[in-house]
Amino acid sequence: MRKLLMTTAAMALVMGAAAGMARAADNVEVLHWWTSGGEAAALDVLKKDLESKNISWTDMPVAGGGGTEAMTVLRARVTSGNAPTAVQMLGFDILDWAKEGALGNLDDIAAKEGWDNVIPKALQQFSKYDGHWIAAPVNVHSTNWMWINKAALDKAGGKAPESWDELVALLDNFKAQGLTAVAHGGQAWQDATIFDAVVLSMGDDFYKKAFIDLDPATLGSDQMKEAFERMAKLRSYVDDNFSGRDWNLASAMVIENKAGVQFMGDWAKGEFIKAGKKPGADFVCIRFPGTQGAVTFNSDQFAMFKVSDDKVPAQLQMAAAIENPVFQSAFNVVKGSAPARTDVPNTDFDDCGKKAMADLADADKNGRLMGSMAHGHANPAAVKNAIYDVVTRQFNGEIDSAAAVTELVAAVEGAK
Ligand code: BGC
Repeated sequence: MRKLLMTTAAMALVMGAAAGMARAADNVEVLHWWTSGGEAAALDVLKKDLESKNISWTDMPVAGGGGTEAMTVLRARVTSGNAPTAVQMLGFDILDWAKEGALGNLDDIAAKEGWDNVIPKALQQFSKYDGHWIAAPVNVHSTNWMWINKAALDKAGGKAPESWDELVALLDNFKAQGLTAVAHGGQAWQDATIFDAVVLSMGDDFYKKAFIDLDPATLGSDQMKEAFERMAKLRSYVDDNFSGRDWNLASAMVIENKAGVQFMGDWAKGEFIKAGKKPGADFVCIRFPGTQGAVTFNSDQFAMFKVSDDKVPAQLQMAAAIENPVFQSAFNVVKGSAPARTDVPNTDFDDCGKKAMADLADADKNGRLMGSMAHGHANPAAVKNAIYDVVTRQFNGEIDSAAAVTELVAAVEGAK
């Protein structure tokens, strides 16, 4: 009897251990920077989806828009031999990790599910390295948007600006209404996000030569000086407390009728939606004046790191779940982005989401789809950070536009 009891206890132990092991294997640890209200709501769609497949989620949030802080934490984790399962990552950062041999291989699942045919080539250039799938793209954002308070726009006559001069007139009107004309957070990546739009508004070719080709003549041109002058003009519409403010708090200023407009990627829409605001009724989404038809994009992808064999099945299931068309719709409706697949219906998306999807398809077709400098889709981090530095110092009045142009050329040359 005693022996039998012990055996039963031992068996229970063994079974418990087995169950525990199964649980450990069916887990993904995910590093990301989706910490605002709208971002967390979108992330929840992914967490719940995985939970429904019995995959548990270990959360590793690292706050900081654009992901600079997250990338620093990631470096420390990988250096100590403890890579997470999956990491939210942008463009060139993915390729840098692939070059280091740190990423896993998603070829089998990509082939089985036909990713090659449905994920746009513009994204595949960052999801693949050396012909192998290394990351699962979850969305396509773009940076050349503006988010206008509808009531303030109506008071200003209701016409959305289509040119730089019309934009300036609108901002003057917002000021006269007693609003903070431009809701902005003084962080390098936010300044750079506006710079994406301002440079693009001076022409696709100018943007391409400057940020994609890194052409010194273009970076040092009078036109670039004009772009910096425009940044200085926009800076004059920002409130006194903007320094260091997080982007979602700037969105909240527009949401709460304290500010007229925010220039920000379409993750801002996630905040408006989370606050119960409706496009067309409470806010208006338009492309930054002068950039209609063109799109500077960034795609959040989950780069899959090399993990121990027992963790690979959950990692692959996560990759498959992300590319599921039903999930792509549910997630991106909340996130504010367009799906990372071309075959997802736009039925569930609001008007801004439908516009994002249509603009993306048109820009791709017309050769007007360009990687965002500010969000790591034009250059590797070294060059991006060199540009950030100059843009931020000029935006804060530490250097004037002429000096910014000279410094931009030198900074980019040094970082290339
Ligand atoms: C990411 C978005 C994110 C935003 C602000 C961007 O770089 O692509 O998903 O919402 O940063 O955190």
